[in-house]
Amino acid sequence: MKRQADSAESKAGGRSIAAASTNVVWHHASVTRARREAMNGHAGCVIWFTGLSGSGKSTLAHALEEELHRMGCRTYVLDGDNVRHGLCGDLGFSDAERQENIRRIGEVAKLFMEAGIIVLTAFISPYRADRQRVRGLMGHGELLEVYCACPLAVCEQRDVKGLYKKARLGEVKNFTGITAPYEAPEKPELTIDTTHDLVGCVKQIIELLRQRGKIPDAPER
Ligand code: ADX
Repeated sequence: MKRQADSAESKAGGRSIAAASTNVVWHHASVTRARREAMNGHAGCVIWFTGLSGSGKSTLAHALEEELHRMGCRTYVLDGDNVRHGLCGDLGFSDAERQENIRRIGEVAKLFMEAGIIVLTAFISPYRADRQRVRGLMGHGELLEVYCACPLAVCEQRDVKGLYKKARLGEVKNFTGITAPYEAPEKPELTIDTTHDLVGCVKQIIELLRQRGKIPDAPER
């Protein structure tokens, strides 16, 4: 399926993003990221979950957050459905609106990360280019892309929100996997088969965080 014109590339609602704010100067905080991370005892980073609706992104993100919280880590989950109630409540599901959704989330995730938080994002984020743009906002190794691999047939069978059924009936337009595309990551940091047990999936990501030096081997708190 073809994406909408690239004229949407740097625009939302017809407005150019970067050019609108002029005469603004960055203020450097004296409480630095390094000081925050030292206090937290772990690095700030972004774990970017991507996958079809119903592929288990939110379930996995919240289960991982539970485990990290138990270990004494500072975390926050940015979840697609929740964020669309507020920050992105003005956006629908066209290509351009999804692009703007992901752009905003990327910027918010970056702020949280710089505050020393382990940010877990759970958005379909169906387009490679949009995910790549978010990766480009962060420093090398700061974003860990986790692909929640789950066959469409399984997601559709789960149909927790009843949206696949509606999409098949034509009652929901541009539905990812049915009438809108999903572009799987080519080189994610991790691919997780979310048809397997949740505890095992969480362990894989904890292991990745340890390997990448984001959390210590044996958290003290
Ligand atoms: S994204 O494509 O822009 O990344 P996001 O993760 O924020 O999507 O929102 C996806 C959630 O919105 C789904 O889990 C589903 O509950 C709901 N939704 C409503 N309409 C659609 C649609 N057309 N396509 C996909 N998800 C939709």
